[in-house]
Amino acid sequence: MKSVGYYNGEIAPLEELRVPALDRAFYFGDGVYDVALIHNGKPVALDDHLDRFFSSCGLVDIEIGRSRGELTEILSSLPGYADPDIRDFTLYFQASRGIAPRSHPFPENAEPGFFAYITPRAFRDQSERISLITKEDIRFYMCNVKTICLMPNVLASEEAKRKGCYEAILHRGDVVTEGSHTAIALIKDGALVFPPLSNLILPSITRKQLIALCEENGIPVVLREIRLGELWTADEVLSMSTTSVILAAKEIDGKPIGGKAPGLVDRMQKLFFGRYGLI
Ligand code: PDD
Repeated sequence: MKSVGYYNGEIAPLEELRVPALDRAFYFGDGVYDVALIHNGKPVALDDHLDRFFSSCGLVDIEIGRSRGELTEILSSLPGYADPDIRDFTLYFQASRGIAPRSHPFPENAEPGFFAYITPRAFRDQSERISLITKEDIRFYMCNVKTICLMPNVLASEEAKRKGCYEAILHRGDVVTEGSHTAIALIKDGALVFPPLSNLILPSITRKQLIALCEENGIPVVLREIRLGELWTADEVLSMSTTSVILAAKEIDGKPIGGKAPGLVDRMQKLFFGRYGLI
């Protein structure tokens, strides 16, 4: 199989996997998830992703009933079920509070639902510049939880797509938070500028890895609020995620932006791909 699915002990081709209708993830969106890469048959930075996953679970009191070791074993085993010639995948995993009749409070003694899958991946060409839109951030105040309730993100992403753009940059009033499915950073005067971590943004693993790489390579990093207006005067605007890696923008809301530090963008992409052995 090309894409392998897992649900509470069952393994099947992803398209054939069925989950119970009473899984609270299905009717309440009562679950959390994470996304990592598998390179050459092995998960990349799995510890970071599991740290964030357990943090997401803890912030919303989801007990997944499985240890970190058990999750590592399940997730690392999935490439072994796929066609042996496929070695690079996107890995998705999700925990739901449990399988139980619909009732808003937490169910008692419900079996938690653990769903995971791998699917072959291909990165976007990192040298291809992207177009972005801006959009008011209408999400709730727990965006540091990687919740599966992503309706505002889905709507923003679809609006970007309909406008021929890759991503929507979200902002609360004048303050930039993140993208609908990526983290956002600027390059200004040779430094990388990231919004500080808070309950308003997801603690992106790509961002964490990039900050570490900057520190190791003497590239200045600044953590501070990014104002909406700065997007138009930044040397570069970057959109980052596990699956898209580091993409630089060429326009926002139809106006040309960035393009003033292409050497630094290229250097960071090369450092990143080199460090994680990605191709
Ligand atoms: N999205 N912010 C949001 C809202 C995200 O959904 C993501 C990732 C990121 C970047 O996080 P990371 O660097 O850890 O991938 C930031 C994933 C890829 C997704 O939902 O598919």
